[in-house]
Amino acid sequence: MTTTGDSTIPVLTIDGPSGSGKGTISRLVAERLGWHYLDSGALYRAVGVAAGWNDLDLDDAGALVRCAFDTEIRFREAADGELRVLVNGHDATDELRTETAGAAASAIAAIPEVRTALRDRQRAFRQPPGLVTDGRDMGTVIFPDAQFKVFLTASAEERAERRYKQLKEKGVSVTLAGLLREILARDARDANRAVAPLRPAEDAVRIDTTGQPIDAVVQQVLAVVRR
Ligand code: C5P
Repeated sequence: MTTTGDSTIPVLTIDGPSGSGKGTISRLVAERLGWHYLDSGALYRAVGVAAGWNDLDLDDAGALVRCAFDTEIRFREAADGELRVLVNGHDATDELRTETAGAAASAIAAIPEVRTALRDRQRAFRQPPGLVTDGRDMGTVIFPDAQFKVFLTASAEERAERRYKQLKEKGVSVTLAGLLREILARDARDANRAVAPLRPAEDAVRIDTTGQPIDAVVQQVLAVVRR
């Protein structure tokens, strides 16, 4: 039997491809419910970034698995309410958000032993009064027994546009066409990998966020928990 923590503690899993709005929606829903929040992608990104700091080769699976076990990852809420991520004691929040970190995360996430190394760490977030967690395999692999499961989608074009706006606001120079290419490549890698591929759990409620304002999606997700 899979042990995913105390099964009496409610879990809401929100899976979906990059740019589907998972992060924003999950944080808002967790806040509304007063539950804990786990951004599982940040763990994969943190290992990718730590691998970069240590000059590890992204083809060296053994070294990356050791890195996944050894990297210390902590979340801390800053005074402004923003969630900061500390990797081996350094605030790596901004570095984690870059496309480079996303691509490194996606590459290392395809290594089965890396996923195993991060599995129990993710399950440890199942704490009272409940957990909202977003990622790719939260409802299928990490918390298959979650009480509530959602799968968010949006067209690739809209996802690229959202990302474009976010990066532009931060002053990062990128092109929309380049971002769309990267998103499609990452989707393909995440959906086609042998282990824990991106796919909706059979019992997940699917919500297409294309053209929908954030609050409308938050309401639909809350309705899944409250019904
Ligand atoms: O969600 P985010 O874009 O931060 O995730 C970065 C990468 O980490 C994804 O492209 C995916 O390859 C990997 N990931 C994963 N399983 C998760 C969360 C993220 O494989 N639960």
